[in-house]
Amino acid sequence: MFFVESSVMRDDQNNACHGTGKVADIANIADLSLCHDAASSHQYSDSEIQGVYRAIRERRDMRHFQTRPVDPQQLLRFIEAAHQAPSVGYMQPWRFIRIVNKELRQRLYEHVNEERILTSEALGKRSDEFMQLKVEGILSCAEVLVVGLVDKRENYIFGRRTMPEMDLASASCAIQNFWLAARAEGVGVGWVSMFDPAQIRSLCNMPEGSQPIALLCVGHVEAFYPAPMLEMEGWDKRRLLSDIVFEDSWGNGKESVNDIVGKSRLKSELPE
Ligand SMILES: Cc1cc2nc3c(=O)[nH]c(=O)nc-3n(C[C@H](O)[C@H](O)[C@H](O)COP(=O)(O)O)c2cc1C
Repeated sequence: MFFVESSVMRDDQNNACHGTGKVADIANIADLSLCHDAASSHQYSDSEIQGVYRAIRERRDMRHFQTRPVDPQQLLRFIEAAHQAPSVGYMQPWRFIRIVNKELRQRLYEHVNEERILTSEALGKRSDEFMQLKVEGILSCAEVLVVGLVDKRENYIFGRRTMPEMDLASASCAIQNFWLAARAEGVGVGWVSMFDPAQIRSLCNMPEGSQPIALLCVGHVEAFYPAPMLEMEGWDKRRLLSDIVFEDSWGNGKESVNDIVGKSRLKSELPE
């Protein structure tokens, strides 16, 4: 009953939002203006809140780009947004390499293409289907950035003693910030991870122990896909909230989540 209790608490504290299905609405990342009167003093304005949720909802992994350039100041803003991400022990493990050399970009593309073929072979039954998908836009986008984890990460113990991969989690937060900032400014980003890290490390002269984790394709787009491209192409679809949220035990609580989602007056407004 975690969700329902939270909802009641808000009601008690704020004396508002009663019976609006507010918590379910939050879960649906939908219209938050319902709770205007209940605003916490720390809350942003309605339109700012809407903007945050809109960027989250409408961010897409893009693979089709226009060739016109991205303003370097704008690119730097996205990187600054990335650099404000949370990081384990505040280690800020991310580094960004802007690819300006055309031949280098071509070699990155060729390597990703080789890896794409190896991926398709590894996929077995879905190999042909996979080969129909567009999985990168490296040559057509305005900017390519290689994002890497720093070397000597073993020196950072805080928050990583049992889970060293929290450095990757931190850098992923940074990339998400970049992605959302770019989406808000109308610029597309695609995360390409189909590569052998050793090859990218070598191509970009990255130090031993560092780890490339993303090739980011950045550029203006004709239009943002209305839904994840892999969904539009029938590769997979988004799981239901009730399949991913549990209560107390793994797999438990489906009914109460469904109950809340069912009460949401905005459910029908959401894209299928
Ligand atoms: C860590 C990570 C690696 C990814 N690598 C690739 C990739 O190599 N090629 C690709 O086409 N998409 C890649 N994607 C994008 C996902 O396919 C995409 O996020 C997913 O299909 C959902 O679509 P959306 O981002 O538009 O919501 C990657 C995404 C993440 C988070």
